[in-house]
Amino acid sequence: MTAPSPDSDSPVLLTPDGSRTAHNARFGEAYGSRHGARAQAHHVFLEGSGTDTHPAPRVLEIGFGLGVNFRATLANAAARGVLLHYHAYEFDPAPADLLREVAAGGEGADHPLWARVLGGWGRPEGLNEAAGGARLRVDFCDVTTAEGTEAGLPQGWATALYLDGFSPTRNPEVWTPDFVARLAGALAPGGVLSTYSAAGHVRRSLQAAGLHVERRPGAPGKRECLRAVKPA
Ligand SMILES: C[S@@+](CC[C@H](N)C(=O)[O-])C[C@H]1O[C@@H](n2cnc3c(N)ncnc32)[C@H](O)[C@@H]1O
Repeated sequence: MTAPSPDSDSPVLLTPDGSRTAHNARFGEAYGSRHGARAQAHHVFLEGSGTDTHPAPRVLEIGFGLGVNFRATLANAAARGVLLHYHAYEFDPAPADLLREVAAGGEGADHPLWARVLGGWGRPEGLNEAAGGARLRVDFCDVTTAEGTEAGLPQGWATALYLDGFSPTRNPEVWTPDFVARLAGALAPGGVLSTYSAAGHVRRSLQAAGLHVERRPGAPGKRECLRAVKPA
């Protein structure tokens, strides 16, 4: 159930847990779960990857979208007083005003780093900002073709990887076996990839990449989701 926006031209969607997401016209899908954008960010990504308890999280995200997962992670790290490093990719940045509207009054929106994100959003050279005990880098490029450039995926770096493309049907390039294997290479030993998809081909790609895959109950509206651990 998604409450209609008061402004019918607006892509913004209010979700049952009180958080917002938005409809993306290019892919014909919402950025986050219509059943609870905040709930999905917490259950699938923050908790699914163990980032909510990690003493020094380094998160890699595909893709940044509206920053709902980032704000959930930022607020959690700030509340725990741990340093957060967050590196995201986004090849089609939404307008900064949309990020602002979706975040208004939500978690992490009052963090000093969020203000910097909005200030530098969409700059072609990318975003690399630090404030309040957290650092965020966003590369505005197609992550699938970034190898060999400065924006290439880091190797063995991430304690958590949020695989949050649009659905495998509409955004297949970020779910291919080849790309998933490259993502596995970006995880540190013991690092965890989390994703909302529980599709059989995604699970098999994760296994083929050498990760230990676990099925978990899904966020509201989904039966299952996946977490995949890189052997230590
Ligand atoms: C489901 S949305 C992500 C929602 C986001 N994680 C959030 O918390 O708001 C998927 C995002 O991935 C981006 N994306 C899809 N394919 C990509 C690619 N090949 N390279 C970089 N970004 C990509 C899309 O533009 C979109 O913003």
